[in-house]
Amino acid sequence: MNERARSMFGLDATRGERTPFLEVIRNTDLHEVFRESRAAGEGSVAHRELRLASPVERRVQVNAVPLRLGADEVGVVMVLHDVTELRRLEQVRTEFVANVSHELRTPLTAIQGYLETLLSGALEERQNARRFLEIVFRHTERLGRLLNDLTDLSNIELGRVALKLAPTRLDEVVDTVLAIMGPKATGGRVGLSSRLSPDLPSMLADRDRLVQVVLNLVDNAVKYTPEGGRVTVQARTAAEGQVEIDVTDTGIGIPPIDLPRITERFYRVDKARSRELGGTGLGLAIVKHLVFAHGGQLRIESEPGRGTTVHVTLPIA
Ligand SMILES: Nc1ncnc2c1ncn2[C@@H]1O[C@H](COP(=O)(O)OP(=O)(O)O)[C@@H](O)[C@H]1O
Ligand SMILES: [Mg+2]
Repeated sequence: MNERARSMFGLDATRGERTPFLEVIRNTDLHEVFRESRAAGEGSVAHRELRLASPVERRVQVNAVPLRLGADEVGVVMVLHDVTELRRLEQVRTEFVANVSHELRTPLTAIQGYLETLLSGALEERQNARRFLEIVFRHTERLGRLLNDLTDLSNIELGRVALKLAPTRLDEVVDTVLAIMGPKATGGRVGLSSRLSPDLPSMLADRDRLVQVVLNLVDNAVKYTPEGGRVTVQARTAAEGQVEIDVTDTGIGIPPIDLPRITERFYRVDKARSRELGGTGLGLAIVKHLVFAHGGQLRIESEPGRGTTVHVTLPIA
């Protein structure tokens, strides 16, 4: 056994030498491969994927080839590949495709349903017809948003988005976001304000992408804050050439159990509520990737019933 094999089975350097296989590695599947391979004889290759339970759960691909050691002594050479990460990524991809299909199907089903109703008579009832078409229109908007976010996210993830990094003034970015979000906040009776320290240096950022980041965070803050609440954007110089931007709300908060996964694609505390509010579940995933692409950091603090603060740290110019 080489060192990697020993560490895969959690054995120290002295274990294994001159000791029967079965005593060293207690994995029946692996023994089966060993026996099969030896019995199959020269020229055969046994191939199998197994699960190792200890010292850590792993997925391992085994290739075994019989090896003649002497006149009537046959051994087996086994090569093991750790495919744990590969299988995990495949799982992530499968789940992602399932999620995308589900997200696309929901509005599509609604659109088809209303169009069918219209075609089978409702078109003649002026009032209903108009209402149904408005619903159909809302769902097509939703589909558009979803596809936009998906395209954006995959481009960022694939590194196809070249950031136009330049000295960027955060106050201008925040003003832009507040101007866009103002009506929505007023409509929901949520107070929206900013507090930037006056000596804030320019940041090294892609201005439009920074707007996208702050806009997504403020949009969430406003969406998940009930009437009478407050949303504040703050910024100040942090340690080592960094600026910290905090978006704080007094909203519903995120339960601790959901917090670690909240930036994953499509992860939402309350799917129905997010959809109702026009969300795609991709906002925070996009924010995270954009912040990382800038060489920054993202941290989320939240307390259910009290509110949420998202901290973004970015380098100064
Ligand atoms: N400020 C916030 N307060 C409470 N929950 C939040 C906040 N921001 C995000 N969330 C939760 O995180 C989920 C993911 O956010 P996001 O990726 O922006 O998706 P979306 O806004 O489309 O639902 C939201 O559905 C919501 O459950
Ligand atoms: Mg969002």
